Amino acid sequence: MATLSEAYTETPLLLEHIIPIDFDSFKEVPQSHSWPRSGDESPRRMLNFEGDHFSVPAIDLESPDAIEMVGHACKNLGIFQVTRHGIPSSLLREVESQAWQFFSLPARAKVRAARSPGGATGYGVARITPFFNKFMWHEGFTMMGSPLEHAREVWPHGYRKFCKVMEDYQDKMKALSERLLAMILKYLGISEHDIDWPRLRSNPSSALQLNSYPQCPDPGLAMGLAPHTDTSFLTILHQNDSAHGLQFHREGRGWVPVLPMDGALVVNVGDMLHIMSNAMFPSVVHRVIANGKRHRLSIGYFYRPPMDFRIGPIHGLTQASGQEVAARFQSIMVKDYVQMKAKNLDKALSMIRIG
Ligand code: OGA
Ligand code: NI
Repeated sequence: MATLSEAYTETPLLLEHIIPIDFDSFKEVPQSHSWPRSGDESPRRMLNFEGDHFSVPAIDLESPDAIEMVGHACKNLGIFQVTRHGIPSSLLREVESQAWQFFSLPARAKVRAARSPGGATGYGVARITPFFNKFMWHEGFTMMGSPLEHAREVWPHGYRKFCKVMEDYQDKMKALSERLLAMILKYLGISEHDIDWPRLRSNPSSALQLNSYPQCPDPGLAMGLAPHTDTSFLTILHQNDSAHGLQFHREGRGWVPVLPMDGALVVNVGDMLHIMSNAMFPSVVHRVIANGKRHRLSIGYFYRPPMDFRIGPIHGLTQASGQEVAARFQSIMVKDYVQMKAKNLDKALSMIRIG
């Protein structure tokens, strides 16, 4: 099995778990999208951080202390922003503008790019949807490599620019992910040998996800994207700087906003880095709240090792300086973990936890 689609074929989706509603046609939030007004799942339950101005750190990747700062942020929070990351702002603007072009289409045009029931790529609701009773105020477009097949359905003659920008962006994101990975390994004192670096880089099963959160008539009632951790090794997110909504969960503080910062990219630890770091780095729980004033857009790149790569606590971490540290996870093939997550969502990590 080589592709992500193949990993997902065992958990095919119902049509209602693929096609989003036509948000433009709703003047109020329908029952299907109304989350409880109180309780743990309420979009309103948040923010006991207010007053202490806690925010995620912004790290200048060109700074001499960058490795130390990236390592600390992975360890303490599992999420941070990066500046001077080398991604041209013109490319960020272009990928955003292509994403707008797609999401601004009428609903009947967007469904031409709909994900197939067993597929991984294309247009549709969030993959985590079947795990929740209510739907989210969200639509997405997932790509792995060239989006040609789907783009051609939408724009039979005008797909080239969209494809080129998306491919170019994925190439740049892959390079930035590898740069961050190399910094993280340095921080951990792990050599590239220890993790079979050439194979890790050879055929990653990464994905690019365009997220659209339409302006919502009653944001206290709707959920942009329900709480989850990312399955990825790490995720790099570009958020449109005029609309916020992303929050991460912090023990003892509750939901903390990740405010957009012009030109900065958000980086978060995913399950696979959590596993490889032997739980030293938390896989950060995050969600998106609905926005009542603006239509929000974000572009996430999920960096993942190849499907047949085995992930587990890095040997050098469990054998640190002659001292044996117990491995906290069984090792597992990436494809098996992706499948496990697709079936069990937040239970997946505990299924491979030792002890
Ligand atoms: C995701 C995600 C956050 C955002 O796509 O997994 O968490 O701000 N997105 O859109
Ligand atoms: Ni996420």
